[in-house]
Amino acid sequence: MPRAPLLVQAARREPVERTPGWFMRQAGRILPEYRAIRERLTLIEISQRPDVAAEVTLQPLRRMPLDAAIMFADIMTPLIGAGVALDIVEGVGPVIERPIRDDAGVRAIRALQPDQDVPYVLETLRLVRRELDASQALIGFAGAPFTLAAYLVEGRPSRDFVRTKSLMYGAPATWHMLMDRLAELTVAYLRAQIGAGVDAVQVFDSWVGALSPDDYAQFVQPYMRRIFTSLGSAGVPMIHFGVMTSTLLEAMATDGASVIGLDWRVPLDEGWSRIGYDLAVQGNLDPVALFAPPAVLEAKALDVLQRAGGRPGHIFNLGHGFLPGTPLDNAIRLAELVRHESARLHEDRRPLAILA
Ligand code: CP3
Repeated sequence: MPRAPLLVQAARREPVERTPGWFMRQAGRILPEYRAIRERLTLIEISQRPDVAAEVTLQPLRRMPLDAAIMFADIMTPLIGAGVALDIVEGVGPVIERPIRDDAGVRAIRALQPDQDVPYVLETLRLVRRELDASQALIGFAGAPFTLAAYLVEGRPSRDFVRTKSLMYGAPATWHMLMDRLAELTVAYLRAQIGAGVDAVQVFDSWVGALSPDDYAQFVQPYMRRIFTSLGSAGVPMIHFGVMTSTLLEAMATDGASVIGLDWRVPLDEGWSRIGYDLAVQGNLDPVALFAPPAVLEAKALDVLQRAGGRPGHIFNLGHGFLPGTPLDNAIRLAELVRHESARLHEDRRPLAILA
């Protein structure tokens, strides 16, 4: 039987010969060949054209040794399919035409029927899967309900989430109705991606670190649990990602994902011990390390690999996505370093593992 992609093996905490690696925001942004396409087409246009979206998804894998491709779309893509009018503005992010702040706004978000509403996403996945070899994983993704809600309610990117939290605290019934819809949409969307052949899914809760543990438990956690419970039987690894989550890790570890994303604010070994070794972890190099001199970048990347301590269940990544202006040479250098140094570290540890 062919072995599962390396990233899937690591997510299942099977022993691997080296640490699989990929980068959030690897498709786009730092690649000149992506920017050339972006001169002709908007981000939304690219995501709606499967041939172009598949090409963009594959571009980073031709540049550097990576163990996964992440489908090219945006976390807002399924909302467009569900009838929400929005734009993704360069240098800003998602902007909503009519921000959602009441029950009528929530009801305007239709239930998602992926085959009809986002057929281009599923077609992109099928095209990409054909181009990858068996060792490479195709990662599907969705935005988590809180992060989607934050954009929908604020109407645009926010720092303090005043309107989002005002709705949460001031109109909890409306909040829960919104989260319920977004959780259902996320389940339908990810289920369709799994049907189209993805090897793993990542749920991006990029802004959840704005919440206290109590607010997370009350206003967000039931929906994360519903998503991971609903999808669990598909048998595909599920990565639960957030930023500034060091006070939420213990809670996230109980939500049902198989892999927890760690940003760079928590050392990988400390984060993992708090999550528990029965789950895998992904991370956690500071994306700004890619702006440092090569020797500093290399030392920081090695530190991440060493903190994983040879334990099965580590997927190398950044703690958050590539930033605009990241030097491509350093990204390539980092991908190569992870591949070679993690193989060397695993090799060095092998006799110890046999003794133990
Ligand atoms: O390599 C990849 O990851 C490509 C696929 C992808 C995109 N967005 C395309 C994109 C993925 C996985 C996302 C997820 C996404 N989108 C998240 C979660 C991940 C995270 O970074 O926290 C969030 C919060 C968004 C919303 C969003 N879309 C933001 C904040 C921005 C940045 C705006 C800017 O220009 O700085 C976008 C635009 C966006 N989505 C780009 C890409 C490649 C930027 C480049 C472009 O406009 O072409």
